[in-house]
Amino acid sequence: MREGTAPLIHREDYCAPVYWIRTVDLCFDLEPAKTLVTSKMQIERNSAVAHGPLRLHGEELTLLRVLINGESVSFRQEGDELVIDNAPDADFALEIRNTCAPEKNTALSGLYTSGGGFFTQCEAEGFRRITYFLDRPDVMAVYSVLLRADKARYPVLLSNGNLLEQGALDNGRHFAKWHDPFPKPSYLFALVAGDLVAREQRITTRSGKDHLLQVYVRRGDLEKTEHAMNSLIASIAWDEARFKLPLDLERFMIVGVSDFNMGAMENKGLNIFNTSALLVSPATATDADFNRIEAIVAHEYFHNWTGNRVTCRDWFQLSLKEGLTVFRDQEFSMDMAAAPSARAVKRIEDVRNLRAMQFPEDSGAMAHAVRPDSYVEINNFYTPTIYEKGAEVVRMYQTLVGREGFEKGMTLYFERHDGQAVTCDDFAAAINDANPGSELSTRLDAFKRWYSQAGTPRVQARGRFDASARTWTLDLAQANPPTPGQDDKLSQVIPVRMGLLSHAGAALPLQLQGEDAAAGTERVLVLDKAEQSFTFVGLDEAPVASLLRQFSAPVVLDDGLTDAELLVLLKFDTDAFNRWEASQRLALNRLLPVVRSGEELTLDTAYIDGMRAVLRSDQLDSAFKALALTLPSEGYIAEQLDVIDPQRIHAAVGTMQLQLARALRDDWQAAFEANQVAGGYSADPVSSGKRALANLALQMLVLDAVQTGNDIWPGRAYQRFKDAGNMTERMGALTALVFARAGLAQPALERFHALFKHEPLVIDKWFALQGRAPELDGQVFARVKQLMQHPDFSLKNPNRARSLIFSLCLFNPAAFHRTDAAGYVFWADRVLELDAINPQVAGRLARVMDRWTKLAEPYRSAAHEALARVAAKPDLSSDVREVIDRALN
Ligand code: ARG
Ligand code: ZN
Repeated sequence: MREGTAPLIHREDYCAPVYWIRTVDLCFDLEPAKTLVTSKMQIERNSAVAHGPLRLHGEELTLLRVLINGESVSFRQEGDELVIDNAPDADFALEIRNTCAPEKNTALSGLYTSGGGFFTQCEAEGFRRITYFLDRPDVMAVYSVLLRADKARYPVLLSNGNLLEQGALDNGRHFAKWHDPFPKPSYLFALVAGDLVAREQRITTRSGKDHLLQVYVRRGDLEKTEHAMNSLIASIAWDEARFKLPLDLERFMIVGVSDFNMGAMENKGLNIFNTSALLVSPATATDADFNRIEAIVAHEYFHNWTGNRVTCRDWFQLSLKEGLTVFRDQEFSMDMAAAPSARAVKRIEDVRNLRAMQFPEDSGAMAHAVRPDSYVEINNFYTPTIYEKGAEVVRMYQTLVGREGFEKGMTLYFERHDGQAVTCDDFAAAINDANPGSELSTRLDAFKRWYSQAGTPRVQARGRFDASARTWTLDLAQANPPTPGQDDKLSQVIPVRMGLLSHAGAALPLQLQGEDAAAGTERVLVLDKAEQSFTFVGLDEAPVASLLRQFSAPVVLDDGLTDAELLVLLKFDTDAFNRWEASQRLALNRLLPVVRSGEELTLDTAYIDGMRAVLRSDQLDSAFKALALTLPSEGYIAEQLDVIDPQRIHAAVGTMQLQLARALRDDWQAAFEANQVAGGYSADPVSSGKRALANLALQMLVLDAVQTGNDIWPGRAYQRFKDAGNMTERMGALTALVFARAGLAQPALERFHALFKHEPLVIDKWFALQGRAPELDGQVFARVKQLMQHPDFSLKNPNRARSLIFSLCLFNPAAFHRTDAAGYVFWADRVLELDAINPQVAGRLARVMDRWTKLAEPYRSAAHEALARVAAKPDLSSDVREVIDRALN
């Protein structure tokens, strides 16, 4: 925790280190209150840069001794740095001895205790909280680690790489010696000590090598690790097949821990996972959890190449590994989904997530580029922009050079940079150099503006039909609104995947003026100027344009389509993403006017008939239907408005939901009945799609019934809740009762708690559901405040804090934004409380106010007051300080 006014760090100030650390021998005497760390480093001066003192990072450590080549040496401590002015010119050995206090480490960065064990989290700058070091990703060393601890309390002792030796010591202690042959930056170091058990699997990979895979968890959790193990095996096979990237370690370990700041961490050979990102069983986890865990296991595994073998030169390059690795896990999940419609569902979910999380970031106070130019606290930059927008940038390379071209580019990237710490420019160069003459090669510099310019570009598209010439001209224009510190932006390179449809729904051949023949019915236009026109020939009618298919670029598209044209796309588009997009646009076209005017919403038959057709279609699969019939989130609607009134948005969505429930009542009932899944549980796309649609249908049916005073559907929902054979259905039924405010909701919640009181991850769901229940007359807000006093609630466990507080503040705008400002007071109190415990979690919560300037009154003034109150606290962490300062400036 760095306090006071931390400096702004600039990308342009990067300097290579004055010293390299080539090897490090670490010895740990593990005790919760005080752990003794001895570090012996082989150090070399970097001959490429000017001489200077050796400066090592260290935070919250107690220094015991410093030796150079076995002799004591003079040093000084400057802030969080240990400075040695007279280090020898020749290579030397540096030995440092210090202690740290794992038990007191509630920030969960560095070495900490959880559930009676020891765990580490070193990315980005946690290693300096373990021992003094050049804690920066371009310093790569070979690690040997000796762990010593009480054998009864910590029978399992793990670190990166291979186990060399283990054995007993005096006084009931034992040791284990690990060696990782791959040089790595300190952020990839890990150790684990505890009473854990492992699921094990031996595999032989394509090259004929044998590997041991292990998933370590607490004793009772073993049966919840099967899915993670299967996901790991599938990830290994996929990376070999798709990118020819093999597993390079004899042993690959995953460990679960229940106190963890994020999802998971890719430490070399020893991934550490939040249990919420690892453990699933049909009884305790939903279909969405199963999919998420498959993706996270894959993500961390894929980092072994994209992140570990080739790492980042500095933290400004974070997206080099994160954007690329998210892209890889998205591609993996799509390939696992197999069927084209299931691939499309995955793409829709990813885009929905991007728009819900990243677009708002781009339009708020913390907007930053995929490769930022400055930061105060790097922990604040593990963001949807670095991860999800970064993945979209990688996806655009693939769109521009083709799938094979992209694979060639990846091969060249590893040929050039294996074992190095590199930059986003190095990645761009590799993809480009492997694809001479591609759509990318003529505009690489302009393409790289995706790394330097923040903000979501707006693309406007309008068509002009010339009946006599039988041509249709598409006029495209782009603009990127200003973001903090970036007023004027240059044109970006925007791949627009597109097709044209006749009004009867036929896919039309695409021939651009000047071409000899039509080139299929889908192509990619590249927009790289402020304005550009494309003329298609041989058309007998004005076509319906299907633009930005598969969401080919992370932009906001204004295509000016009428409802009639959107209905054509909804019915006939060959691109499932755009069919879904049409459904969302049709909903927005009804919601936005009433939110703006404050008038009552009345659904029209055109919309209702369109949605009915989706629900009744025998061609669309259930997962798609559920997505198309789910209304845009209140957050996404807010994104479309210049002035945000969260209460009006909530009211409009509530009314629309109710009318949709009522108008399609018979169809919802038919859908509910037709989408029952019999037999044993499987999270495959078809079964989970059916459960998703059945859950949505049930939600609609209960909602309508509660409004009309009918008890049948609430009763059926309660029955289903009681009898459910899996968590997806149980949670679906419970959600239906809670969201409709049925009288049976409370008994169901109580029963749920009693049933799962020994399953922390399920209790998280219990808190979260109550935190995001639709607000009415302040009841949800009052309930959340009450739940803060619940014996199961704790701010110290990040999952639990997030389950209740983040659900309310981040995902329940109508409960949070109150005319009496009580939501903001609650927020400010929790930010301050959390900041004293865990700055990273507090920093994330602080971001809720990113877009306060767009709020309508009285919210805006009240939000400002709450921000000012937090800002007035003198000893904020750098995490919270940076977020609040940016919101206020
Ligand atoms: N590298 C990890 C992952 O995405 C996440 C680390 C996050 N670190 C942080 N300080 N928030 O796989
Ligand atoms: Zn990652």
